[in-house]
Amino acid sequence: MSIKKINWDKFWKDKISPLHHSENISFYKIYAKELRLLMNDENPNSLLEIACGSGELFSLLGFDKIKKYIGIDFSDSMLNQFIKKYPEVTVLRKDACQYITQERYDIIFCNAALQCFPFKKINLFFKNMRKMMKPHSLLTCASLPLKPLKKSYHSLSVYGKKQNFLASSYSLLNSFLCDTMGHWFTFDELIEFAKKENFEITFHGSFVYPYRIHAVLKIPNNESKSN
Ligand SMILES: C[S@@+](CC[C@H](N)C(=O)[O-])C[C@H]1O[C@@H](n2cnc3c(N)ncnc32)[C@H](O)[C@@H]1O
Repeated sequence: MSIKKINWDKFWKDKISPLHHSENISFYKIYAKELRLLMNDENPNSLLEIACGSGELFSLLGFDKIKKYIGIDFSDSMLNQFIKKYPEVTVLRKDACQYITQERYDIIFCNAALQCFPFKKINLFFKNMRKMMKPHSLLTCASLPLKPLKKSYHSLSVYGKKQNFLASSYSLLNSFLCDTMGHWFTFDELIEFAKKENFEITFHGSFVYPYRIHAVLKIPNNESKSN
């Protein structure tokens, strides 16, 4: 929780890159390798990417091979970058928290974005996503900042370094004033969101971002069998 709320719409309005930790191809390759492990289906027929951004990871994730790929994002500048690289891609300018269609997807994938969604709208987001899933679909919400590791992120100890007390306190204090990382989730919050929509949720630690986790949600087996 920080004092000054960031207007994310405004923040992403003119951005042309996802501002990942590193912006070089070798980082993206390792990151994509990690994220691919979160998808059980190597060859899904359909995938909805929520907050797709500028498509930096698109082909590295193999999304260019998927028959039906739709990306949504609310930033025109990010989407324009995406289309510049992949003119054939289908992307829509939409707010993820309101998005819903009649279509159903094998995978719904959302990387490094849930933390920007208004916290109060996350319930609605999960509710809508569930309606666009098939019994065996996965909803992957990847790269979420993990609250129990927030202090260690600011002290740099998650990176195996020891920053001096003043510098880490300053960094932590700044995040209380205005946190450009977005919301830091607890496990319990995510479990609670999943429970409300009757999802099974599993967590996986991130290799490239030691202070983040990936959450993978699915419809429980007993429910999918009865469908
Ligand atoms: C860190 S970037 C990640 C982009 C992409 N998922 C990736 O991993 O490269 C976050 C993206 O989320 C988008 N975003 C944030 N909140 C959104 C919302 N409520 N609806 C749609 N897009 C949103 C931003 O425009 C931005 O492109």
